[in-house]
Amino acid sequence: MASRETLLKILDLARWAPSGDNTQPWRFEIVADDHVAIHGHDTREWCLYDFNGHASHIAHGALLETLRIAATGEGLAASWTLRSGCPDKAPIYDVRLAAAPGIAADPLLPFIETRVVQRRPMRTTPLSDTQRAALAAAPGAGYSVRFFESGAARRQVAGLLWRNAYLRLTCPEAYPVHKEIIEWRTRFSKDRIPEQAVGVDSATARLMEWVMASWGRVQFFNKYLGGTLAPRVQLDYIPAIACAAHVLVLADTPAAGVEGHARGGVALQRLWLTAASVGLHLQPEMTPLIFRWYARAGQRFSALPEIARGADALADEFERIGGFGRDQALTFFCRVGVCDTPHSRSLRKSVDELMLSPR
Ligand SMILES: Cc1cc2nc3c(=O)[nH]c(=O)nc-3n(C[C@H](O)[C@H](O)[C@H](O)COP(=O)(O)O)c2cc1C
Repeated sequence: MASRETLLKILDLARWAPSGDNTQPWRFEIVADDHVAIHGHDTREWCLYDFNGHASHIAHGALLETLRIAATGEGLAASWTLRSGCPDKAPIYDVRLAAAPGIAADPLLPFIETRVVQRRPMRTTPLSDTQRAALAAAPGAGYSVRFFESGAARRQVAGLLWRNAYLRLTCPEAYPVHKEIIEWRTRFSKDRIPEQAVGVDSATARLMEWVMASWGRVQFFNKYLGGTLAPRVQLDYIPAIACAAHVLVLADTPAAGVEGHARGGVALQRLWLTAASVGLHLQPEMTPLIFRWYARAGQRFSALPEIARGADALADEFERIGGFGRDQALTFFCRVGVCDTPHSRSLRKSVDELMLSPR
């Protein structure tokens, strides 16, 4: 039905889907000319932010939606199902492709490769009605979108992110993750986040590289030299003010299992590609949402009691600012705005590297 070459072309585009810390938790298998299997994995064993694997499941959904959009460019309709009986830690998604004569290329297709995370300050130009309406409709049925746009609302979010970042930077269990995911002194990284895409100036980057060489240095710096201040100002507070809006995607019903979170990833990627299509850059702000997952599940993620207390307080603050209750399910949180395209970005592993190796 589709040649191997066509399927490889689709996968080559699909791999540009975003994943937390650019972990690309997927491998590809071409099963037949109308069947691709996506073998997912997660990073919960080493990454604190992958709460029960959900951040990875969300990334799987973003990949599956990207694949579906890419297939329309080849005149194919793609749909996926989660294979039953697979463990949560290794879900397999079966993607079926069917010839669809006359199918139009998805309008989001041109943005698959240009979509990129922007962690630096953006312009505060307000969203136009067209941009706001496009973002509100993007995630689709089952989700609603809330905007934090006014100066006062952005300052409230900035305060939330400021306290969130303190937790992130003082949590011993988060330290090995931060150390692992940044590729220092680079502009591009194929399997991590290059230093220049992190969003700090080069002097702060040099200091961070030196300090992050050991947890002892981090602790000393945090305790006696206000070590969390420079990164928090540059990575959290200023960017939270310097944007058009923060955007929260709420789910009508809590995500059920792997598939529910993968559906959330579909919504995320539709929002992100739509933002790109209306001239907006975007940065996910997932850690307050992830800390709230831990807090509301009563799951402790740090040996330090003050970190657990901090996560509980942060969840309360998030709910107060957002005007939603303890049971409200959240799918995605991000900031958007107009700005130049970042000069540094994460790249991807090649399709060859992502192919499931033969057993
Ligand atoms: C589920 C998920 C969570 C993410 N969380 C964050 C986040 O909290 N902060 C951030 O700056 N980027 C976040 N990202 C963005 C990724 O780091 C980014 O997509 C990845 O490094 C690839 O870079 P690219 O999007 O520029 O291609 C997240 C992405 C996904 C899919």
